[in-house]
Amino acid sequence: MSRIDSAINIDDLKRMAKRRLPKIMFDFIEGGVEDEVGLRTNANAFRDVRLVPRYYIDTSKREQKATLFGRTYASPFGIAPTGMAGAFHKDAELFLSQAAHEADIPYLMSGASNASMEEGFKLAGKNLWYQIYGAKNRAFQLDLVKRAIDLGLTTIAVTCDVPVSSNRERNRRNGFVRPLKMTLPTILEAMLHPAWVLNYYRQGGLPMLGNWQRYAASGSTPDQVADLFATQTPDASQVWGDIEAIRAAWPGKLLIKGIMHPEDARIAVGMGVDGLLVSNHGGRQLDMMPSPLDMLPMIRSAVGPDVPLLLDSGVRRGSDIVAALCMGADFVLTGRATLYGATAGGLEGVKKAVSILQREIDLVMGQLGALNLDALGPHYLLDTVRAEEERRNTGGRR
Ligand SMILES: Cc1cc2nc3c(=O)[nH]c(=O)nc-3n(C[C@H](O)[C@H](O)[C@H](O)COP(=O)(O)O)c2cc1C
Repeated sequence: MSRIDSAINIDDLKRMAKRRLPKIMFDFIEGGVEDEVGLRTNANAFRDVRLVPRYYIDTSKREQKATLFGRTYASPFGIAPTGMAGAFHKDAELFLSQAAHEADIPYLMSGASNASMEEGFKLAGKNLWYQIYGAKNRAFQLDLVKRAIDLGLTTIAVTCDVPVSSNRERNRRNGFVRPLKMTLPTILEAMLHPAWVLNYYRQGGLPMLGNWQRYAASGSTPDQVADLFATQTPDASQVWGDIEAIRAAWPGKLLIKGIMHPEDARIAVGMGVDGLLVSNHGGRQLDMMPSPLDMLPMIRSAVGPDVPLLLDSGVRRGSDIVAALCMGADFVLTGRATLYGATAGGLEGVKKAVSILQREIDLVMGQLGALNLDALGPHYLLDTVRAEEERRNTGGRR
């Protein structure tokens, strides 16, 4: 049995990732902002859900296929964008692409990825989606859209929740700021993680931001490309007109990632956005944000039943995914869960993370009495069951 095979849940993969990475790198993945209230908010939102099962329903042939934007995927979840994944494991984004293809789930590649979308597409094909950060020079963001069109991607997402950079205190304390400050304690601590050190230096140190390389002067180093990226994004001057311009340029499915307010949801849908990814960026932007799970019912009623709603932030279990679907999401993305896999064990690790979540979804569906995803809904939520029973007990008089 390989080391990765011994993981029985996502938390095991997290522990393996933590062991493999120097603190400065693990903290970059794990950290939230300021007091990290957002991390707890996300975790607690899932811990507070209670699902009420139904029995004596034949669920011997369960399936978890999910249709989104007219395409059927093997499972109701995909992989969220996580920038600089190549710094945690060489070629991480290629592994995420390959695993998405093999598992037939979507992979939303980060706008700050190390592999380029062209490289990812070779492995993931139509399972590759691409995430865009607004850039000060609008020509860059529109060129990224054009590249997605040229490749034949079906779906892009524009991330709205990084108008300015956030106050990530773990990174500041550790020196994970640009340029990377390799202090003596950081170097000594890194030496305790030789597998990562070897893997990192085999790729020549800081990996290239693959999608941005062509916008920098030819022959630019990864540091110089990262400098260019840092001058372009975040861009606090982005407005709804930028979404309009992207909508006009992009004929495929357009998502906005990070919508949290119902009014923003209405505006986006009014502009012809095809779906919304309700997210608080995994607790990495504004510490006081509510969890996406708590906002989901309000956003659902704001946009109506037909607009696809995706959700991420805090998903660590198949049961979290099932809970989000019961609460009105159509699809879920995983950020850290799949990144722990990539970090701990490359391709094998991502595949393990995906299979753990798939197995947990399957078991929870069996427990609930749900044959397929259409069977999931608010009728499994304790609050709904309670309200229905109260209504019955009062004979509908209230
Ligand atoms: C290391 C790391 C890097 C991230 N980079 C990006 C990014 O480049 N673009 C983006 O839209 N979101 C990024 N995110 C946010 C994720 O897409 C996602 O919203 C978040 O991880 C979901 O929360 P979870 O990690 O609890 O699943 C990043 C998250 C992490 C952990």
